[in-house]
This record gives sequence, C-alpha cells and structure tokens, in this order.
Amino acid sequence: MTAHLRRREDGALELRVNGVFVMDDVETSSERVLAEVVLDAGAREVLVGGLGLGHTLRALLDGGATGVLVAEIEPEIVTWMRTGRIRGRELLDDPRTEIVVGDVRDVVEAQPPARWDAICLDVDNGPDFLVHEHNADIYSDDFLGACRTALRPDGALAIWSMNRPAGLLDALRERFDRVDEHPVPVRLQDRPETYWVLLAR
Ligand SMILES: C[S@@+](CC[C@H](N)C(=O)[O-])C[C@H]1O[C@@H](n2cnc3c(N)ncnc32)[C@H](O)[C@@H]1O
Repeated sequence: MTAHLRRREDGALELRVNGVFVMDDVETSSERVLAEVVLDAGAREVLVGGLGLGHTLRALLDGGATGVLVAEIEPEIVTWMRTGRIRGRELLDDPRTEIVVGDVRDVVEAQPPARWDAICLDVDNGPDFLVHEHNADIYSDDFLGACRTALRPDGALAIWSMNRPAGLLDALRERFDRVDEHPVPVRLQDRPETYWVLLAR
C-alpha cells in the first residue's frame, strides 16, 4: 500500500492510500465522536486502530485517557506525524501514547484477555465501502470476538462507518449485550452526509 498526503487548493490536508481518498482535516467530527463515545462509557485505557490524521487520538488524550495504544499499518503516516508533515507530534510524544506499526488485527489478537477498557476502530470506510480488501476481516465475527476477548467485562468497542451497516450491527448484537448507534451529520463539500459510530458494550 502507498500513502500520499497532499495539500489541496482549499488549504485542506488530504490523506490518500493507493490513490483512494481516505480523509481530510476539514470534517473531523465523526473521528472525535469515536473517542467521545468510549470516554463517555468510562474508558481510560484504549486501543485504537488507525492513526490517520490523529483526531481520534487527540480527542482521547484531551478527554482524559490514561493510556492509548495505536496500531497504524502505514509506517509513513507515523513518520509524517513525527516529522511535522501531519500535525500532532505532541500526541506521539505524550507518555500516554504507544504506537505500533502493524495491522490492528494482529495487535488486538496479541493482547492479553481483558486488557483494555475500549477499542476504537477506524481503519476503513466500514464493511460496505472497503478501501483495503484485507480489512473485510476487521468486521468479521471472528475479529469481533477477538475484540471482545481483549476488552474488560464492562468494556466498549466503537466502530466508525461511512453508512449504517445492517449486517455488522446484527453481528455486534450477537456478541455484545448492548449496541448503540450514533449517527453523525457532516457536510462534505457542501453536501449533507451522515457517518455512523457504533458502540457495543
Ligand atoms: C480514516 S484513517 C483514521 C482516521 C483517524 N480516526 C483520525 O482521527 O484521523 C484510517 C487509518 O487506518 C490505517 N489502516 C488501514 N488499515 C489498517 C489496519 N488493518 N490496521 C491498522 N491501521 C490500518 C490507514 O493507514 C489510515 O491511517
């Protein structure tokens, strides 16, 4: 995979992987909601899948997280944040942050049982709009089970999605006691859209 950063004519910073738009730094409310829902659920130690432009990580640290492990598959993204091409070097220097370059699937599966208060997953656009085919497994029943094992009994799994993913909601409801849906209204280049954050406990 190849990650690219570009500064658009409107001044926004845009992240693309394999030529596909991943995100920009204009509309970041849903990335922050992903952090807020787990903080509101009482989480303080959080595993995050996908560093991206760092908005979820920043919201977790600003909101009082005491430890955050971030798994990011693209080494360049971590380098760009360390060297200032992506804003947020202070997030990586924060003693509460640990970054692992690798696939979040491997990182979650390597955790001891009941290690984390919460897991936040924002590595792709959701199960129905995959940028990376290999990420289909992230939304599989097996991986939801691995997340549940890595969570404390009162832990929370939050997943970002571009649409309301009916199949994933059903799978979460099979595995978890309670699943809440958080629609997040956003504007994309003057177009109203709704992104979704799912919270399973
Ligand atoms: C949409 S961005 C994350 C945005 C982030 N929530 C933020 O606040 O900026 C998705 C990130 O996940 C990374 N990624 C994609 N697949 C991954 C995987 N399987 N494991 C870890 N990181 C992955 C991408 O390289 C990208 O940096």
